[in-house]
Amino acid sequence: MSEDRKYITFALGKGRLAKKTLELLEEIGITCEEMKDKDTRKLIFVNEELKLKFFLAKGPDVPTYVEYGAADIGVVGSDTILEEGRRVYEVLDLGFGKCRMCVCGPASAKELLKHHEMIRVASKYPNIAKDYFYNKKHQTVDIIKLNGSVELGPIVGLADVIVDIVETGSTLKENGLEVLEEICPLSARMIVNQVSMKMEAERIKELISKLRAKCG
Ligand code: PRP
Repeated sequence: MSEDRKYITFALGKGRLAKKTLELLEEIGITCEEMKDKDTRKLIFVNEELKLKFFLAKGPDVPTYVEYGAADIGVVGSDTILEEGRRVYEVLDLGFGKCRMCVCGPASAKELLKHHEMIRVASKYPNIAKDYFYNKKHQTVDIIKLNGSVELGPIVGLADVIVDIVETGSTLKENGLEVLEEICPLSARMIVNQVSMKMEAERIKELISKLRAKCG
């Protein structure tokens, strides 16, 4: 193992996704002990032996770090990859974090979707919403960007429908909303910087094939 070997840096989307990713990496013998300390305020963690670095970032920032090469590899939901539209290679479906991107609203909004009416759509994912309504449904809509708790949109009268992630469906149910149309399935994906994929081809391909064997 040469001493001047370059570090491979991982950017992980904060939260459940990062936890699952670390568990998966552990299964293939990649650990980062420093990261297990719950009280740490450190932002970047190193495994000197394997020449790996890890950092946690807000989900939507992960593709940005990877596109610019600040991270070689990223793990993030496919919703974020679609929304951000960054130039990265998507190399692996990790098989967890499964959910769906849907158009949701009160049952009464179903009619509005059928007749191509001009409606208001609230979403944390304006690009996905735009692509779906403009390019797939050919329906002109007014898209309103929100940053969370999007289900509030139809409840308080801000929007007719929302475009949002549905996992168990309980948030919708508890708020009197339902899935009106399904846009696409989602899951956690591994992305790779386009230059790193060439420069570190051997190490990255080995990692992908080990992970692929674990996540089926
Ligand atoms: C997500 C999503 C829904 C909810 C869906 O929100 O935006 O609100 O989870 O999950 P369910 O179908 O299992 O109820 P998140 O918890 O990420 O928070 P946010 O509203 O701030 O986006």
